Amino acid sequence: MEEQKKRNVCSLLQAAEGSFLSGEEMAAALGISRAAVWKQVKRLRGQGYEIEAVTNVGYRMVACPDTLDVYAIKQLLGNHPWRDTITVLECVDSTNSLAKVQALQAAPHGSVYMADEQTGGRGRLGRSFISPRGEGLYFSLLLRPDCRPAELPHITAMVAVAACNALEEVCSVRPQIKWTNDLLLGEKKIGGILTELTAEWESETLSSLVIGIGINCNQRTFPEELRDKATSLKLQLGHSIDRQRLAVALIEQLHRMSQELFTQRDAWMARYAGDCITIGRLVRIHRGETVKSAIAIGINSNGALLVRYDSGETGVVVAGEVSVRGEHGYL
Ligand code: BTN
Repeated sequence: MEEQKKRNVCSLLQAAEGSFLSGEEMAAALGISRAAVWKQVKRLRGQGYEIEAVTNVGYRMVACPDTLDVYAIKQLLGNHPWRDTITVLECVDSTNSLAKVQALQAAPHGSVYMADEQTGGRGRLGRSFISPRGEGLYFSLLLRPDCRPAELPHITAMVAVAACNALEEVCSVRPQIKWTNDLLLGEKKIGGILTELTAEWESETLSSLVIGIGINCNQRTFPEELRDKATSLKLQLGHSIDRQRLAVALIEQLHRMSQELFTQRDAWMARYAGDCITIGRLVRIHRGETVKSAIAIGINSNGALLVRYDSGETGVVVAGEVSVRGEHGYL
């Protein structure tokens, strides 16, 4: 009851977008007393909200704490079909690991897991994904599509496009994609995608698909060894970004993606090709001990990279089988 009152007071002040609301009008709107409004304002202040109070004028929300608030996220989502399956934690080893454990315990299609901090964030090829508290978006989505794993070679590419759409919507800037799963701004990495699936071998059915997305949002700096390669939205745009709005945009985009997984595949892959910075670049293809030089010439409908080797032969490079590194620097 008290929690609900606090959330209502918070929502009202947030909706006023920095304008003053009198204690009286807030009390009337919420059906509580003015003393109860004041009590909730004090509780919100205790939780890091900056709320100005002026005698005979009212209250004004000056700043919200930079934590992920599940109620605020749900409110922004309205009656979205996934709003009741969202979990937000302060700290977890990895949201992907959590989603996989929850998948084994029958968590439904559309379950979303986010954390303010990850202590063991994971990337592709056994790399770690550094996930400092309050600075990035660490997000995993559990899907249970009714198909075989072999029918989803294009999943990471579609997720990359969904993430670019969400970032463009919230930050007014569209990242580029370094094949296969890196999101870039200013030719440095701002995020990555790790898709993991579990399947039943005998029947070749997919049990669960966990889509992990990590985005560097408000970092001001990076460890020395990453500075040449990594950046954040804040460093690129010059201002902080609202991680909750980004989370909501991501949920909406991934929901649309899940509905169009098989019906609109070509359109999504065309968008991927348009966003992919690797195309037209010289690349080195590492397959075991062998390294071959080539030029990247396109993307096929599976999200695989089409290349032309120095010999003139063309080839198809599949993620997971090889890794592609640029001839020069990070790209
Ligand atoms: C990569 O850069 O290779 C992929 C990085 C993916 C990081 C995200 S953060 C949320 C989710 N949980 C993880 O442990 N990894 C993914």
